[in-house]
Amino acid sequence: MTSNTSTNFAYACKLSELKPNVPLPCEVNDRFVVLAMLDGKVFCIEDICTHDGGTLGDGELDGNCLVCPRHGAKFDLRTGAAMCMPATEGTLSHEVEIRGDEVFVQLKDN
Ligand code: FES
Repeated sequence: MTSNTSTNFAYACKLSELKPNVPLPCEVNDRFVVLAMLDGKVFCIEDICTHDGGTLGDGELDGNCLVCPRHGAKFDLRTGAAMCMPATEGTLSHEVEIRGDEVFVQLKDN
């Protein structure tokens, strides 16, 4: 059974796969995203660094930010906002919905 507000959400992962403060790269509908649980809430951003297209999924968390492993740009996982150089533009932030033990995301367009 699906909720009438959830028609555009796509399955990403099991909730139990997410460990607190550990980023989890996922492929959703042929797009690469990174999910993370911060303070019990799940967030999702596009797995693309806006500096030079690096993948963020192998980056480490610094507070609420995901650090790009290539040149150190930081993106706020809650909003996708770029928080330091060399990135000046945010990456996409996707809405998350939890259904039981499953995590769904609503992918924004590029
Ligand atoms: S590609 Fe991410 S900081 Fe350069």
